[in-house]
Amino acid sequence: MTRLVVLVSGNGSNLQAMLDASLPVVAVIADRPCHGIDRASRAGAETVVVTDLAELGDAVGSYAPDWVILAGFARLLKQPFLDRFRVVNLHPALPGELPGLRAIERALGEAQAGTRHRSGVMVHLVPDEGIDSGPVLATAEVPMEPTATFEARMHAAEHDLLVRTVQELSDGGQHMNLRQQEKTEPTGWSHR
Ligand code: GRF
Repeated sequence: MTRLVVLVSGNGSNLQAMLDASLPVVAVIADRPCHGIDRASRAGAETVVVTDLAELGDAVGSYAPDWVILAGFARLLKQPFLDRFRVVNLHPALPGELPGLRAIERALGEAQAGTRHRSGVMVHLVPDEGIDSGPVLATAEVPMEPTATFEARMHAAEHDLLVRTVQELSDGGQHMNLRQQEKTEPTGWSHR
């Protein structure tokens, strides 16, 4: 069985979508007490809060994950962590667009200025310290109009795309671009 560790920092609605879809989440780890941790506890998942990022690798490693899913994790991960685990991130923009925080808000600002007509969401691998970049696993386009419902439509698109993509990874990801994903951590995945 695939083992997923999910990292969160905030609301945790994407975590909730994965829990609701019964994906194999073995632990939820946050860098601060947050609603995502509360959601995980309510769902009966194992939870840990790790405020010192120097301790994150060992906390994650103790669950021997096949995949580490960043679902609204607000801290930048360092290369030793990324070399150790297979990491996937969710970003509320299309590849190469709006890296960093508040991407939805910035997309709306650009739409109001007349310079943006579409945006979207993506799920990608995180092989290095680049921000919201890395080999793309899946994308979904989301029209800007009507802007009043854009944020809600983006969140719905994120929940759907993340669940579908992580489900496929959990099933082995045969059709995905998973090259260069050999990692140092001796987890279940390297023994398969
Ligand atoms: C999402 O928009 C995600 O793409 C971004 O942070 C947000 C997290 O939302 N990285 P939630 O905590 O899952 O509700």
